[in-house]
Amino acid sequence: MANMTVFGAQWGDEGKGKIVDLLGSEVACVVRYQGGNNAGHTVIVNGQKTVLHVIPSGILHDGTLCIIGNGVVLDPFVFLEELENLRLKNIDTSPKRLFVSPKTQLIMPYHKVLDSARESMKSAKGKIGTTGRGIGPCYEDKMARIGVRAGDLNDKELIRQKIETALIEKNILFKNLYHVDEMDVDAVYKEVMAVADKLLPYVQDTTAIFYELKKQGKSCLFEGAQGVMLDIDHGTYPYVTSSNTICSNAGVGAGVPNEFITEHIAIVKAYTTRVGAGPFPTELFDDTGKYLQQKGGEFGATTGRTRRCGWFDACVLRECYRICKPTTFALTKLDVLGGLDEIKICVAYTLNGKEIAVPPSSAADFANVQPVYETLPGWKEDISSCLTYEELPENAKKYVARLEELIGVEAGFVSVGPDRNQTIRR
Ligand code: IMP
Repeated sequence: MANMTVFGAQWGDEGKGKIVDLLGSEVACVVRYQGGNNAGHTVIVNGQKTVLHVIPSGILHDGTLCIIGNGVVLDPFVFLEELENLRLKNIDTSPKRLFVSPKTQLIMPYHKVLDSARESMKSAKGKIGTTGRGIGPCYEDKMARIGVRAGDLNDKELIRQKIETALIEKNILFKNLYHVDEMDVDAVYKEVMAVADKLLPYVQDTTAIFYELKKQGKSCLFEGAQGVMLDIDHGTYPYVTSSNTICSNAGVGAGVPNEFITEHIAIVKAYTTRVGAGPFPTELFDDTGKYLQQKGGEFGATTGRTRRCGWFDACVLRECYRICKPTTFALTKLDVLGGLDEIKICVAYTLNGKEIAVPPSSAADFANVQPVYETLPGWKEDISSCLTYEELPENAKKYVARLEELIGVEAGFVSVGPDRNQTIRR
């Protein structure tokens, strides 16, 4: 099996966790390469639900190694909490199969305070609707070269100095701009050092692990978080997350040459959802939107927020294809569309009277595009127990075929329900 990425093609929440889980038993290693615990992957195995935020979903397969790459921002407290929850389910979380790169940036307590303080101060119109997990402020410190990395935990003096440096600036902001309590260097130092000994056994040279696996002819799966439209460069800026979510970031965020990775599986939801603020041309404000929300259980795995729902948007997928060139895609939640009389697909936009094929780069223009729809007949059958593509109702097959035509590659997987075995592989 080739090394592959599994990444979201839309605004996140496409169901990546399920496909990573499915393929997790077929690879030697699953790697997270960006984002942090803003992500939430829900995996259901035999009716039992596990929600993971930072630990790769490969952990649910005995023997699969899991790596948290250098491109991730890791909240050590959330990591340890997740470890504990997995241990309670008798899942092996030992440092023999789970590794954290020493170069991984740590989300510090002040990053979370800054994230929330900044969002609450913004006017309703200016809010991005972040998850409040400190993701943006942590990446900012990384770029400002004052971040704390997992490997730094070996050096107590360095950790203290870094906290001191970070708090000089942040306390000025807390006190004078955001009017929240200043943070004390000693208190933050103690809080962080209290978990250092538990985290350090997991910190290892992860690039060396890849080379060893490569030498043995074994394959790795690189698991993305969020989606292409939330990419810091290519997404709907400024309503994006603070990392590169596209598959080409896998090499950078994991510390391997990109030529190692030859397969790119885009995860595509059969309709569109978005959490947080920002333009969403195909958003539905009517009963159909509510139907998708309820039937699809469209509530955030991380924040519990209601996801905005709308029709499938081929312009978004065209952009995904231009930037990522997926080798195949996994279509998720096709079952949710069942029961509708007709289903719409946005095949283009109009902007100021002109037809355009991909999302414009300006947020103001994107807010003004009008979707051009094509309408397909729906199906009434429950498809959640279909095991093969042939068993799908004709209209469901027609819908998938039209999406394949618009996306430019064939669907390698079609998911018809939340459970691991409710997936058609072609
Ligand atoms: P942040 O990543 O917390 O800074 O949030 C920035 C934007 O990305 C907000 O609109 C979030 O709702 C969105 N976002 C972050 N992570 C996810 C995710 O895993 N799924 C969907 N949206 C996300």
